Amino acid sequence: MGGFTRLIVFVSMFAAITLISEAQYYLPIIKHEPSKQYYTVFDIGSAAKSHVTLAIDLETNLTWLNCRTLKSISSLRLITCQSSTCKSIPGNGCDGKYCLYRQPNPLGKPVTGRVVQDKATFSTTDGGTSPLSEVSLPRFTFSCATQGLSLPVAGVLGLSPAGEFSFWRQVTTAFNVIPKFALCLPSSVFGAGHFYVGGVNSYNIPPFNGSNPLPMTMTPLKNVDSGKYVISVTSIYVDGVPLPLKPSLLEGGAKISTVVPYTVLQTDIYNALASAFTLKATKIGMSKVPGMREFLGTHTFETCFEEGSSRRNIEEFVNVPVIEIGLPGRAGEVKWRFHGANTVVRVLETVICLAFVDGGEKPHEPMVIGTHQLQDYMIEFDYSTRRMAFSESLLLHNSRCLTM
Ligand SMILES: *[C@@H]1O[C@H](CO)[C@@H](O)[C@H](O)[C@H]1NC(C)=O
Ligand SMILES: *[C@@H]1O[C@H](CO)[C@@H](O)[C@H](O)[C@H]1NC(C)=O
Repeated sequence: MGGFTRLIVFVSMFAAITLISEAQYYLPIIKHEPSKQYYTVFDIGSAAKSHVTLAIDLETNLTWLNCRTLKSISSLRLITCQSSTCKSIPGNGCDGKYCLYRQPNPLGKPVTGRVVQDKATFSTTDGGTSPLSEVSLPRFTFSCATQGLSLPVAGVLGLSPAGEFSFWRQVTTAFNVIPKFALCLPSSVFGAGHFYVGGVNSYNIPPFNGSNPLPMTMTPLKNVDSGKYVISVTSIYVDGVPLPLKPSLLEGGAKISTVVPYTVLQTDIYNALASAFTLKATKIGMSKVPGMREFLGTHTFETCFEEGSSRRNIEEFVNVPVIEIGLPGRAGEVKWRFHGANTVVRVLETVICLAFVDGGEKPHEPMVIGTHQLQDYMIEFDYSTRRMAFSESLLLHNSRCLTM
């Protein structure tokens, strides 16, 4: 091959790769109250399409749903135990002929069901928040559970990093795009947040676009084969002052969860955070009051304050101490910064509480970052680089994870 031909081949391969890698898919994210669960909606079925509503879970390996909620089950294909699909599903089983899947359920009892395939239909996007055109995954693999969840949720969308069958993995493999996805969880029930699969360089959420990109900070993901998204934590700060924590307390890192509503911390971490926050909060005129239960909810918060003279703006909690999590970055520590909207909750007109929960002395995980902290941030999981990226709070840019 002559140099010129080789150049042409190289250029066209490069062009093809560039085109491929920029395809991106979009699904809405809806917040449900008072359960504080987040779910997405798309269509399943070949002949009769059914809108399915699935809770979003970062630890579920294979999507499952109550197939009785589908309008038609005639197009579901059962998977045999001998098939390579069945063999490569972690936790698979067999009922003699057909593939079974037993899945721990983040929202209740474990579920067992048959593994099936059918067409899944959702939308493409250019990075914006309105659908462009419909696209279908002809053989989307999921399992049919017999137990339902409480409506409106019909099942759980698996977004785990393990195995080949999480939703984003099936989509990016089928369409040959970069294996990554991003979540922008809405803080309000009045509209939809954003779930992107695949990669383009810009998220077109006003005021951001290609020429004014949303800045993202990266940190490595630990051991993705564990089936969880865990990041290393180097320190925790309140108004810039590091908490006095034994380094061993942070060794387990922090797991990211879309089903836990408030960040759960091991007792010593919680106590250190609560006392540093209280010290700063009382200096700016807030006064400590006994623990309180959340408004219309089930959580009880231990660290609560009468706002007093610090009170400036009911909605935006502008004046509360800033909490930062220090993480390994490309060149030293990077900080994930949380302001009032993500660090406190209002329980009474003049009372706010620290929106973190004490997880006990010896929890399974020392830190689980929950949705109250994640909402209104863009959080991107890039499996190709084993990295997570996060934006600043969109609220700082007069934006939110919300399209009306
Ligand atoms: C991108 O956003 C900036 C700032 O909001 C705006 O001034 C600019 O016109 C936008 N550009 C495009 C191409 O939409
Ligand atoms: C998901 O798969 C991983 C890796 O095979 C496994 O360790 C984990 O237990 C599975 N998770 C669930 C919830 O089944």
